[in-house]
Amino acid sequence: MRVIFLGPPGAGKGTQARRAAARWAVVQIATGDMLREAVAAGTELGRQAKRYMDAGELVPDAVMIGLVGETLGRPEAGKGFVLDGFPRTLAQAAALDRLLEERGIALDRVVLFRISETELAERMTGRRVCRGCGRNYHVKFSPPQKPGVCDGCGDRLYQRSDDAEATVRRRLGVYERDTRPLVDYYRGQGLLEEISGEGPVDQVFEAVLRATERAR
Ligand code: AP5
Repeated sequence: MRVIFLGPPGAGKGTQARRAAARWAVVQIATGDMLREAVAAGTELGRQAKRYMDAGELVPDAVMIGLVGETLGRPEAGKGFVLDGFPRTLAQAAALDRLLEERGIALDRVVLFRISETELAERMTGRRVCRGCGRNYHVKFSPPQKPGVCDGCGDRLYQRSDDAEATVRRRLGVYERDTRPLVDYYRGQGLLEEISGEGPVDQVFEAVLRATERAR
């Protein structure tokens, strides 16, 4: 299965990508997680990316295309992947087409998560992330058993710096300007399946499975 999860920030792409990748035994390629790991490790990539991320802006295309190209070239990606957070611009989508063509493979499906802005803002401002394994929680919708502590690995939870209200508004604007055009791009390729990202996590997962089943 080779799938893209597309949708605004906070739509639940990461939550569902983690589950879907486990179900299909493929890799989850989450560019936001990769960048946050680079920031935490203090690498050159992390240093470059941090100022864009903190401002709610996109990291330059050339950096992202290089990063994803390298990841897609790894043997783990050979069995399939869920792309979560990439592509985010038309230039990234065109580069992905080229990368896949070079490898003689094609996308099976692009799943678009539809969700209201009010729900997005609530999801992002209440989100908490595990420092150790990157798992997502929400203070109201999916709290950990013990406040501030990851159920999976026991590490501490933190709030992302780009989940502050003003940055969230900026990120939503950037989505509309730079990423929304991908909806028509993939609709034109006959790959787009739209689902509702609202409702309980299990219900959204069922919708993801139905949307991708048709591609099998
Ligand atoms: P990234 O980390 O990719 O952020 P995003 O796309 O803005 O998406 P989010 O992680 O905010 O949301 P999500 O849709 O994954 O939702 P989640 O599952 O967490 O990117 C961060 C930054 O990195 C970008 O701003 C940019 O600077 C840079 N970047 C990354 N990729 C790039 C690229 N390709 N090009 C350029 N720059 C790039 O869910 C959100 C919350 O809701 C969680 O708390 C979760 O528990 C909760 N939740 C999930 N599902 C439900 C549900 N069904 N009901 C109730 N709550 C739910």
